[in-house]
Amino acid sequence: MSEGNAVSPVVLGIETSCDETSVGIVRGDQLLANVVSSSMDLHRRFGGVVPEVAARAHLEALPQVMTQALGDANISREDIDAVAVTAGPGLAGALMVGVGAAKGLAQALNRPLYAVNHLVGHVAVDLLRSEGRHLELPTIALLVSGGHTSLLLIRDLVHDVEVLGDTIDDAAGEAFDKVARVLGLPYPGGPEIDRVAATGNPSAYDFPRGLTQPRVQATHRYNFSFSGLKTSVARWWEANGEPDNPQLVADVAASFQESVADVLTKKAIDAALAYGVPRLVLGGGVAANSRVRALAEERCREAGVELSVPPLSLCTDNGAMIAVLGAELIRRGQAPSALSVSAVSTLVSRTAQIEPGTRSTSGPTDGAEAPGADVEHTEQLDEAITGLQPTVRPSTTRARSKKAPLLPAIAVSCGVVGLALAPAFGAGIVPAILAVVFGHSAKHRPLARQGTVVTGLVLGYLGIALSAVMGTLAATPVIRALLVSVGFLLPD
Ligand code: KG4
Ligand code: ZN
Repeated sequence: MSEGNAVSPVVLGIETSCDETSVGIVRGDQLLANVVSSSMDLHRRFGGVVPEVAARAHLEALPQVMTQALGDANISREDIDAVAVTAGPGLAGALMVGVGAAKGLAQALNRPLYAVNHLVGHVAVDLLRSEGRHLELPTIALLVSGGHTSLLLIRDLVHDVEVLGDTIDDAAGEAFDKVARVLGLPYPGGPEIDRVAATGNPSAYDFPRGLTQPRVQATHRYNFSFSGLKTSVARWWEANGEPDNPQLVADVAASFQESVADVLTKKAIDAALAYGVPRLVLGGGVAANSRVRALAEERCREAGVELSVPPLSLCTDNGAMIAVLGAELIRRGQAPSALSVSAVSTLVSRTAQIEPGTRSTSGPTDGAEAPGADVEHTEQLDEAITGLQPTVRPSTTRARSKKAPLLPAIAVSCGVVGLALAPAFGAGIVPAILAVVFGHSAKHRPLARQGTVVTGLVLGYLGIALSAVMGTLAATPVIRALLVSVGFLLPD
């Protein structure tokens, strides 16, 4: 626990589930930093998020985002009491980058790791008192982005999260993006449709409302489907579209948006009333949509449901929500996650934390290891390495860190001695050979400075060569005398 603040841990949260690389830092319920870097520009030409591109972008952006977050929070790494990370749901490769980095940081700082549920994170932003947020439970949460469309009933943020429904095909944001492309609007399509729909007529066309028909209520009352709507708009546009007619584009965009907003808000209110929960939290990029917000406000007011919509920076994917969820888990005395925890892309969990660790800690952030913890720690690390995380392997580098930096230095020292002794009748041969041996064994160590290794090897080989020449020269008179004595050579 950082000094001067015994009750509120400083938690760093890492979020990489989709295309936003984000690091947030909180002290308890106070937001210290929230840095977001988006790889959206890289996906623009593909018209949607490309998972491999997103994963690579996280890898490149994360170190800088983390440095900036620490700078914004005005703290150093050592001030961090715990590390939290999104473990799912999300894009598998993208999640792995964040989880790997979080493991590395937790391991390097010897701090607990909390692998958390991204969806619950969206709701946890309402714990940020410094941002004027206020979380009241139980609540219904409608989380709508490019990657997910989920309706949750949260009775307890840590232990009782019920997924009432989800999309059975496209996410709502995905539908916005795809329909925008059909209409010739750039990616990301959500804000574009929102913009052009402002001058359109939302009742111009009656597009389908997925999974709202009475006959599917028994099975899909709280589930969503946007694929049929998307196809319907695309077919209509194919037959009747006029890309150069801005009013037509606006009318289609507004009608499509109306269909999405109608379904989302209708199902959310239905859940609130059916479960007797008079609260609704919105989260995800689509919650930025002006019509979704307006209709949610209108319907919540009519139904007597209290609506909470975080500001945009906390509504879209961000590290702050992960950090504050980590802080809440600590406050509630949850054990940290095991270092072997893996990313779970299709996570459907009733809890905020993924696989809490079996290790019970005397205090979640006291950093003190119990006797025998080393062994357990090493086992966890082995599991972590053999698990899913190919990008960040903190444990391997740590295991080697004690020996590896010494080897190149020994190689250079032996090389210098070898070279210095070489003129003395080739006496440098032994240290020079040692320089080469140490140099080669250091070559594949990740922590070894390769410049030093090369210097050691060069000195070693030079020492061997010079020693060989000088030794041969020194030995020549002796050899001559020997050869003369056995009659192979005539005396001078
Ligand atoms: O939460 P988010 O920033 O990132 C992830 O998907 O992870 O959400 C992005 C999605 C995109 O599909 C984008 O088109 C949509 O949210 N979006 C919107 C609006 N702003 C962003 N959709 C409708 N209206 C908006 N104003
Ligand atoms: Zn999200």
